[in-house]
Amino acid sequence: MPASHEKRRTFAIISHPDAGKTTLTEKLLYFGGAIRMAGQVKARGEKRRAKSDWMKIEQERGISVTSSVMTFEHKDLIFNLLDTPGHEDFSEDTYRTLTAVDSAIMVIDASKGIEAQTRKLFEVCRLRDIPIITLVNKCDREAKDTFELLDEIQETLALDLSPMVLPIGTGSNFHGCFNITNGDYYTSETRGEAFDKIVETTGFDDEKLDELVDGQLLEEAREMMELASIGYSEFDLESYQEGHLSPVIFGSALKDYGPTALLDLIAEIAPMPRSAPSTIRTVTPDEKKVSGFVFKVQANMDSNHRDRVAFMRICSGDFKRGMKLRQVRTNKDVMVHSPIMFFAQDREVVHGAGPGDVIGIPNHGTIRVGDTFTEGENLQFTGLPAFAPEILRRVRLPDTTKVKQLRRALEDLAEEGLTQVFKPNIGSNWIIGLVGILQLDVLKSRAKAEYGVEIDFEPLTFNMAVWLKCEDDAKLKTFISANAGNVVHDREGSPVFLAKSQWELDYTKERNPDIIFMKTRELV
Ligand code: G4P
Repeated sequence: MPASHEKRRTFAIISHPDAGKTTLTEKLLYFGGAIRMAGQVKARGEKRRAKSDWMKIEQERGISVTSSVMTFEHKDLIFNLLDTPGHEDFSEDTYRTLTAVDSAIMVIDASKGIEAQTRKLFEVCRLRDIPIITLVNKCDREAKDTFELLDEIQETLALDLSPMVLPIGTGSNFHGCFNITNGDYYTSETRGEAFDKIVETTGFDDEKLDELVDGQLLEEAREMMELASIGYSEFDLESYQEGHLSPVIFGSALKDYGPTALLDLIAEIAPMPRSAPSTIRTVTPDEKKVSGFVFKVQANMDSNHRDRVAFMRICSGDFKRGMKLRQVRTNKDVMVHSPIMFFAQDREVVHGAGPGDVIGIPNHGTIRVGDTFTEGENLQFTGLPAFAPEILRRVRLPDTTKVKQLRRALEDLAEEGLTQVFKPNIGSNWIIGLVGILQLDVLKSRAKAEYGVEIDFEPLTFNMAVWLKCEDDAKLKTFISANAGNVVHDREGSPVFLAKSQWELDYTKERNPDIIFMKTRELV
């Protein structure tokens, strides 16, 4: 019997909004046997959204702010699909979610190619060498030329590609897809309908195809298959698992071309839970003792109970319900008596979970993003990033009797990772830092709905924020007092330098060579 970590495949889908992530998620759950009817992911999302006022924003704007985890069993494996919010304004949360997966599926719209958000997310995956399987989606619509797309992906991302499943025709001429690795031709009984037929062939020269594909198109397709099999890299497991090479499947999530092939590929080639770096040593998933880190905290998931759920990725050991785990930051033991896991349609209290799984720990604000839990060992997992905010605002509080509520709202929402808060050296108003402009609306509306405090924002003359570090404490102190008007402190008390422009930042860097200015900071 495989050990529990060998059975897990934990992955996320990365894409630009509208490329088809929701559709693919639904189809993976459907073909993975987790839901009976496609269309339930959205329905479930809407039900959940209706529960909380602030989520109206996402409803109105048609975006998904929350990220959750979907677990299902398929082919004797446990698949954990971590949902990442797709809108570019919520990228920080998305980035952190990517620290909790072992591989990713990159969805690209066949008519658009690489788009901005895909590229950003890909860069995060690359930083961590996360292996990627590519789905070129929407081949049933008018699409760019197959080679043009492959070359664009390869060149823009500097990633080797190994095409495995290619389209035969696109748009109104879409006949199906051909698997060049095993000769299977995926098609439909009736042209234009969803995939419902596999024709086994001996290769793209097989005469069987002559009856199934229109003459002119078949000729072009054969040429394409031949070029594709010689013009790109051969699949190499090691190279994929190291994040250098991506197998590519062309398909249509809407018409069921791709989802089953993706499930098979994940089962076959996607890596099992990886080892996790920590402050003192690397923790391997086969270790007996339980350890994990929190990559996301979601507050007020249910507005009737002021609950929060901390999402913890288990890095090692077999977790059992009711276990006592040490929260390393506070050195306190926490009894995890009602851990939850998220199945396709529900969340349920779970009794056990293994490496690679994500469990939700309900709490009242005591657990933070970046927290490590162990069975007593004093180690902290590293690598969870905080990002330099790109938007800075001073918080204005019209009703000054609400200072306490404001502090609580800002601290809670910062803990959740929605915003970053800074205390200026000079003056007393809080400064907030955000990665996307849309978060301002979310912040305002949640502060009102959940903490009863109305807030406004004032622009600052500063446009960028970077963390400061210096080997020599005295030098850092001197720098801070010489630049008091530009320095604020984050929640952890770390100094942050605010600059009006890139020019000012470069100038300050040049004049202070001993000081390190950082765009990201590891939370631990
Ligand atoms: P996202 O989560 O990445 O933002 O994308 P989503 O799945 O919501 O898909 C965006 C739109 O693209 C949806 O249409 C969806 O039906 C469509 N779509 C997804 N995959 C395919 C595909 O393979 N082929 C075609 N032709 N369309 C696809 P919509 O009209 O905006 O939404 P809906 O009303 O259909 O839900």
